[in-house]
Amino acid sequence: MNRPVLEGLRLNTPAHVHHARLVEWVAEIAALTEAAEVCWCDGSEAEYRRLCAQLVAAGTLIPLNPALRPGSFLARSDPGDVARVEDRTFICSQRQEDAGPTNHWMAPAQMRERLQTGEQALFRGSMRGRTMYVVPFSMGPLGSPIAHIGVELTDSPYVALSMRTMTRMGRGALEVLGADGDFVPCVHTVGAPLQPGQRDVAWPCNPTKYIVHYPESREIWSYGSGYGGNALLGKKCFALRIASTMGREQGWLAEHMLILGLTSPEGRKYHVAAAFPSACGKTNFSMLVPPAGFEGWKVTTIGDDIAWIKPRVDGRLVAINPEAGYFGVAPGTNAHTNPNCLASLQRDTVFTNVALTDDGDVWWEGLTDTPPAHLIDWQGRDWTPALAQATGAKAAHPNSRFTVAATHNPVLDADWDNPAGVPLDAFVFGGRRSTTVPLATEARNWVEGVYMAATMGSETTAAMAGGNGSVRRDPFAMLPFVGYNMADYFQHWLDLGERLAAAGARLPKIFCVNWFRKGADGRFVWPGYGENMRVLEWMIGRIEGRAGGVDHVFGVSPRYEDLRWDGLAFTREQFDSVIGIDRAAWQQELALHDALFDTLAHHLPPALPAAKARFAQRLAAG
Ligand code: OXD
Ligand code: MN
Repeated sequence: MNRPVLEGLRLNTPAHVHHARLVEWVAEIAALTEAAEVCWCDGSEAEYRRLCAQLVAAGTLIPLNPALRPGSFLARSDPGDVARVEDRTFICSQRQEDAGPTNHWMAPAQMRERLQTGEQALFRGSMRGRTMYVVPFSMGPLGSPIAHIGVELTDSPYVALSMRTMTRMGRGALEVLGADGDFVPCVHTVGAPLQPGQRDVAWPCNPTKYIVHYPESREIWSYGSGYGGNALLGKKCFALRIASTMGREQGWLAEHMLILGLTSPEGRKYHVAAAFPSACGKTNFSMLVPPAGFEGWKVTTIGDDIAWIKPRVDGRLVAINPEAGYFGVAPGTNAHTNPNCLASLQRDTVFTNVALTDDGDVWWEGLTDTPPAHLIDWQGRDWTPALAQATGAKAAHPNSRFTVAATHNPVLDADWDNPAGVPLDAFVFGGRRSTTVPLATEARNWVEGVYMAATMGSETTAAMAGGNGSVRRDPFAMLPFVGYNMADYFQHWLDLGERLAAAGARLPKIFCVNWFRKGADGRFVWPGYGENMRVLEWMIGRIEGRAGGVDHVFGVSPRYEDLRWDGLAFTREQFDSVIGIDRAAWQQELALHDALFDTLAHHLPPALPAAKARFAQRLAAG
């Protein structure tokens, strides 16, 4: 530890902190980063307001018109810091094979040298001139047996502020931690130390970025970015990458899944966890409004992005949403696609990289059919529809976001904060595929369900730097988020299912969906959004053992007559074009599954190629 620096620094440890290991670690990081000051966050409303005022003074937050968007702000990031950086994300396990072929890896000693221990280590002095915030947080309801605690040290007040919305942050988390509780240490710096007298910029960051995970010691170190999943370390870094390794060791699941409650007109309640890759409408699905003809059905949100799932004593899988807020993609959100989300964003919301209207409100592509005549775009420049037409310039960045507390959601599930979690009835896996994959398929058994999830493919999106619409395999929608070898992750799913089934537990059914098939005209055939309720109703019918379906090569799909069409003009021909199995396309698809399995050959569970061989045989037999 750097004693002289530490001696000049007040750690400001509050009297109610009794966790010696935590205090020692805070001192160690303050010394390494040479932070000018340490501030322990308590999570209070007063602290939130103080941070907002400070960020407004610094130019990071622009207050929106209080008459139109009370308590809300706009942040504009550095144009080079707008998305997660997967090519700068590392899993530093001792052995490379434990990170697996889908993760970037570096030996822990080498990474530590680069970040912490080397003479030129990036974290050395990285917080000079800045305050280091100590942000204790619980992922999941305080004290829940499914929840876990983390502490993030960050030199970004925007991150401290966002963590209050996205997690249960502050004194409550410290109380759960007590004097010797376990926590995941998360260190974050924007990597922009200030020299004495140097003026700060509105969005400090560094062109060099590292998002680093040490799975064995369960540490997270993030350098150079202030944005979203790179910086709010409770989210993708902890709740998915580190938690997935914890789940593997401890027998549970950390998944990139929304969780919704579904109540039938008769009052029967079901819970569905659904995995989709980034920007495939998870938030929309989790807040779905049932269409005309489905009065009496109710969809309620437990979570929109991440699920932690543990077996209960009776073996039933129960889930919590580890987050407390939504960090959702703004473009495309409107009164048709997600009215509940729009209602959530009425007040007390931080928007990042959306456009600013002349009357001090926000706008993004897709919010209204007709854009305003003039806007300030996400980079602070004038924008008009004519300019957009001439140059294609977007007013909002395609990955622009809102950060808002879950409690703003008008369809929040009554159990969203229940420490016991909710029992799961179904898993749904869905990629974005314009061809090949049917609208809905029920897996015949757990192994075939795992196969469907493992071979999911999706077209890339703006949430990823460099995303351009090409198809990539995204097993379980976890490709960028699994903290260990993907083949071992498949095995973990298979083992868990086998163990629970052997104990006589009721396992959730597994379904695969695809809302995104396109017709010959290049347009989506399935109307999606609220109309997805028709598919959900069919799934509940399958769970209750009353809905029909046709057994085909890959599982059971609904026939036209198995879905209810009240209120929607959707022809049998249209239905055939979203449900049909094209043999030639599937032969190609299975060859691509082989390619995936070749990449993941090390530790690949033999049950998966065996399932593939059965599918191929049935396909060949016609
Ligand atoms: C997200 C993502 O931010 O999946 O949720 O990229
Ligand atoms: Mn996500």
